[in-house]
Amino acid sequence: MNLSGILVSLTVLGAACAHPVTVSETPGSAVPADGEPTLARLAGARHFDLGAAVQGGALLGDSAYANAVVRDFTMVSTENAFKFGPLRPSPGRYDFTETDAIVRFAETHGLRVRGHTLVWKRQLPEWLTRGTYMRNELITILREHIQTVVGRYRGRVVAWDVVNEALKDSVGPEDEVLRPTIWLKGIGPEYIDLAFHFAHEADPGALLFYNEAGAEGMGTKSDAVYALVWRLRRRGVPVHGVGLQMHTGLGASPDTAALGANLRRLAALGLQVQITEMDVGTAKMPGSQADILAAQADVYRQVLATCLSVPACTALVTWGVGDRYTWRYPDTPLLLDREFQPKPAHAALLEVLRAASPGSAPR
Ligand code: XIL
Repeated sequence: MNLSGILVSLTVLGAACAHPVTVSETPGSAVPADGEPTLARLAGARHFDLGAAVQGGALLGDSAYANAVVRDFTMVSTENAFKFGPLRPSPGRYDFTETDAIVRFAETHGLRVRGHTLVWKRQLPEWLTRGTYMRNELITILREHIQTVVGRYRGRVVAWDVVNEALKDSVGPEDEVLRPTIWLKGIGPEYIDLAFHFAHEADPGALLFYNEAGAEGMGTKSDAVYALVWRLRRRGVPVHGVGLQMHTGLGASPDTAALGANLRRLAALGLQVQITEMDVGTAKMPGSQADILAAQADVYRQVLATCLSVPACTALVTWGVGDRYTWRYPDTPLLLDREFQPKPAHAALLEVLRAASPGSAPR
């Protein structure tokens, strides 16, 4: 993408946006001159996706935010827009305003889109959670929802988190591992298979992910994820990847040897793996601000380096763009500060991507 001297009007985002912001890429703005390595350029050269979860409102209303997305990322995920509740205010009505805006922004700027998420336990509309449905009715709702949403963005959303967090928070080896969600209670464990089949029918070209929390390293939770996707594959369910969320913090940061081992065993099943929701909290950590930022940078550095060491690890997505809008506010867990200026974590990722040899084989 040629980033120099262009002025991109976000009016392309459509009629839904009453006061479009302007993404200006002028000298001295957030976008460096042509040729200067940015995170996006270095990641792109490696055929690797560096992504950020975005909010439609900020993308439309905050030009510093929109500029930062274009400068640093090759992919966007959707923080809330694709969740069932926001998308489906009533049984017969879909509201695609935010998802359309995000997908159009991404297309305008050459960014790839991850759709997060089709089936989850949270952010469901009341009409669904309060309703009483027979099993076959719930399957019909699930099918219709997935096929409408995935079908609308066929060929435009490259990867979907089809099912999110189907496993209980902590699972023991002997436990019943599936979380008792509305989907499990109403349909049974087959809801997972069905969701993947429905999504695949709606867009056979999309990469379909199972996404999970707290399953980054080795342990009972990641064993349960491994067993789940192993069984899905054996049954011929179209699952192509595992998303590891990576919401973490200083003092609780992942053991990179265990992360690497986990990535490799998932890859050995023929799956892609993506880090889908990374943020690194710093709250209540002792030490100077500089020490804290350096420690945060180390966590980002190690996770990216570990991911890049496994060819099947194809993307790292941060759960937000900068600390101005983070679900962990007032914590400051992202790569950019509240003014969208790069933090040491941003420099650390630049360093890791630079160190990757330019002539390295396409991933
Ligand atoms: C979070 C969003 O960031 C918040 O804005 C929202 O209020 C709740 O959901 N794991 C997930 C994400 O899979 O969907 C969650 O996103 C964060 C935890």
